[in-house]
Amino acid sequence: MNTHKDKTALVTGASDGIGAEFIKILASRGYDLILVARSEEKLNDLAEKMSNEFGIRCSVIVADLSSANAAHDLFHAVEEKGLEVNFLINNAGLLRNGFFTELSLSDQEQMIAVNILALTSLTHLYANKMAATGGGHILNVASLAGWMAIPNQNVYAATKAYVLAFTQALSNEMMAANTGVQITALCPGYTATKMMDNPEQGATLRIPASMMMSAREVAKMGIKGCLAGKDLIVPGIANKFTASFTHFFSKSLLTKLLGSFYRKTMD
Ligand SMILES: NC(=O)c1ccc[n+]([C@@H]2O[C@H](COP(=O)([O-])OP(=O)(O)OC[C@H]3O[C@@H](n4cnc5c(N)ncnc54)[C@H](OP(=O)(O)O)[C@@H]3O)[C@@H](O)[C@H]2O)c1
Repeated sequence: MNTHKDKTALVTGASDGIGAEFIKILASRGYDLILVARSEEKLNDLAEKMSNEFGIRCSVIVADLSSANAAHDLFHAVEEKGLEVNFLINNAGLLRNGFFTELSLSDQEQMIAVNILALTSLTHLYANKMAATGGGHILNVASLAGWMAIPNQNVYAATKAYVLAFTQALSNEMMAANTGVQITALCPGYTATKMMDNPEQGATLRIPASMMMSAREVAKMGIKGCLAGKDLIVPGIANKFTASFTHFFSKSLLTKLLGSFYRKTMD
């Protein structure tokens, strides 16, 4: 039986969407939690609910992961609290849709900073720490978008291609070295969260609700797969089919097809 100290999870992007579902599942499995995002009030509300409902300890760290040194500052804030993380979920991410040169450069830089830089730095800091302290789990949230080049969503898709390739390669590296650190990439397809309908994201992608999975289902499959030692999880049959489908086309043809679909589907 694990004590609470053996089960502490840090979840970035915990204030909403898939992240808010990750924390409910982890709390129900007895994990103490460290919730990270920018929205302090939402995090405090969730922390109170998780502690009351599941009797776990829940800490809140407010952080903008696009800021310089964000990952290092977060790591040190956790150390100062004396907490030992053995499950890290790099979930925070943002999406900007639209024509590349019309989107602001700073928005795109912010997307790269959160989706790639903060995720990589946190993975490095915690993979080292976990390897030195008896192992742990790291779940990096990529996307089905990472399997393809997507016109009008080009930087986002490229950040997720990075997360996918980085995570799968690292997973193999850590396993071959017997570090005891399990690293997993989760590739959701369209998921019903505010990311699909966020006025800050540039153009809106009109995706029918029937094509979306729930955040709960995605989070559940992510945690289950990571704890089961998988290096890669594509949740849902339709998403698995789409992932396989990408192998039947040349990259050029697939990009043309996606360009045409995304231009038609974006307002
Ligand atoms: N929804 C989809 O269709 C879909 C599909 C595939 C992959 N994903 C991936 O799944 C992950 C979660 O997305 P979601 O759909 O749950 O989106 P969401 O509902 O928009 O939630 C995004 C989370 O990231 C946090 N976040 C955003 N910018 C941040 C920053 N600068 N610093 C710290 N936290 C930040 C947000 O919190 P604050 O605003 O409070 O900071 C929020 O908690 C992302 O990595 C996304 O790329 C989503």
